[in-house]
Amino acid sequence: MTQETATPMPSELPAGNARKVFIKTYGCQMNVYDSGRMADALAADGYVSTDVMDDADLVLLNTCHIREKAAEKVYSALGRLRETKKARAAEGREFMIGVAGCVAQAEGEEISRREPAVDVVIGPQTYHRLPQALRKARGGERVVDTEYALEDKFEHLPDPTRVIGKPRNVTAFLTVQEGCDKFCTFCVVPYTRGAEVSRPLAQLLTEARRLVDSGVRELTLLGQNVNAWHGEDEAGRAIGLGDLLYRLAEIPGLARLRYTTSHPRDMDDRLIEAHRDLRMLMPYLHLPVQAGSDRILKSMNRRHKAEEYIVLIERIREARPDIALSGDFIVGFPGETDEDFEATMDLVRRVNYAQAYSFKYSSRPGTPGADLPDHVDEEVKTERLARLQSLLLEQQQAFSRSMIGQTMDLLLEKPGRMPGQLIGRSPWLQSVNVDAMSSQIGDIIQVRITAAGPNSLFAEVAEG
Ligand code: 5AD
Ligand code: SF4
Repeated sequence: MTQETATPMPSELPAGNARKVFIKTYGCQMNVYDSGRMADALAADGYVSTDVMDDADLVLLNTCHIREKAAEKVYSALGRLRETKKARAAEGREFMIGVAGCVAQAEGEEISRREPAVDVVIGPQTYHRLPQALRKARGGERVVDTEYALEDKFEHLPDPTRVIGKPRNVTAFLTVQEGCDKFCTFCVVPYTRGAEVSRPLAQLLTEARRLVDSGVRELTLLGQNVNAWHGEDEAGRAIGLGDLLYRLAEIPGLARLRYTTSHPRDMDDRLIEAHRDLRMLMPYLHLPVQAGSDRILKSMNRRHKAEEYIVLIERIREARPDIALSGDFIVGFPGETDEDFEATMDLVRRVNYAQAYSFKYSSRPGTPGADLPDHVDEEVKTERLARLQSLLLEQQQAFSRSMIGQTMDLLLEKPGRMPGQLIGRSPWLQSVNVDAMSSQIGDIIQVRITAAGPNSLFAEVAEG
């Protein structure tokens, strides 16, 4: 879940002395989507993207605030950028530094105070104003724009498929919902991303159709709490994520749908029906539970019991028997005893995850969890995390091994390392290497899995 990526962006334009931007993305897939849209906004303003930081005139850090270490990483990156800025100033060359994303939202002015080399601080709700902010900064002003914008940023961003020079990917993210009203007591998202807001149906259908017209075959719907998405259809009827999936499934040329991240409380009947009815809705669901002890779930304000989660998983598996589960876990939440932790281990054994992310609890100032008594010792957290991760790894490896000999569809996404080799995704989001001389990126081909490596699978083209 937390990865760092240099966002793939519009490729070089033959524009002689155009300014260059390097965007570094921290954290979740929402940030990956946002980085792409920021690149669009900047491209419309004449910037070209580079994946070489040393070539850039503007470095933008799109930050994550979910755990403490994430914010510290940003400050140390800023320290290094300050040195680059000094060196560039000595050469008389422009070098601007921008901080976007959730650390920008949460820390605001504090970032400029702590690191005066930063030119622009811009929150996740206002990044459509990035070009104006940069112009102001170039005039010598230090800009901090972390207001919740009244206008809809999506209406003010350039159409993602119209940005010149943008490489056509066969998979794309589509943010359908932002923010969260759940207020889990460990989580900063309701404070950094604000209240839950759903994008309207018509806007989403238009963006999805354009993406498909530009070559996209797989769409992943994104939201901090994606299954809380709600809207109205053309007849004014209230609809939810399940209905949205049925509507998207009608788009000609679209082959696959996914969505992430979900809350167990918002897995309604219609969404489960979508898993039953829509073959193109991939059989892979990221449904975080965080902990297996009812006492801890209550203290986390998750608003469901462990058994309710298990029953929900059973219902989903009944609707789509080949579905694979993924989850998030936190160990060492305040007050977590050995017995509570064992309840998490039990739940993991019962569910059997194909994939999972697990973290030590990180106290976030301003969240209710930070004020709870009985914070757990760091060594205890470390030991619990190691035990949990070894169980999860065992399950993940068993899942990968169970693929050997199976025939499945593969959506080819990019060239592999060897000539003639391509890399695709299985329905279960696994990366698969295949020798497929006569196939092209964007094709969906039938393959047979021949071997399982630690991070990817190997396959041959299936006969007939
Ligand atoms: N400490 C540790 N992990 C956290 N997460 C969210 N907040 C915290 C925190 N304070 C984890 C949760 C969430 C994932 C995105 O990050 O598991 O689902
Ligand atoms: Fe955070 Fe909970 Fe909302 Fe997920 S559901 S974003 S963990 S508050």
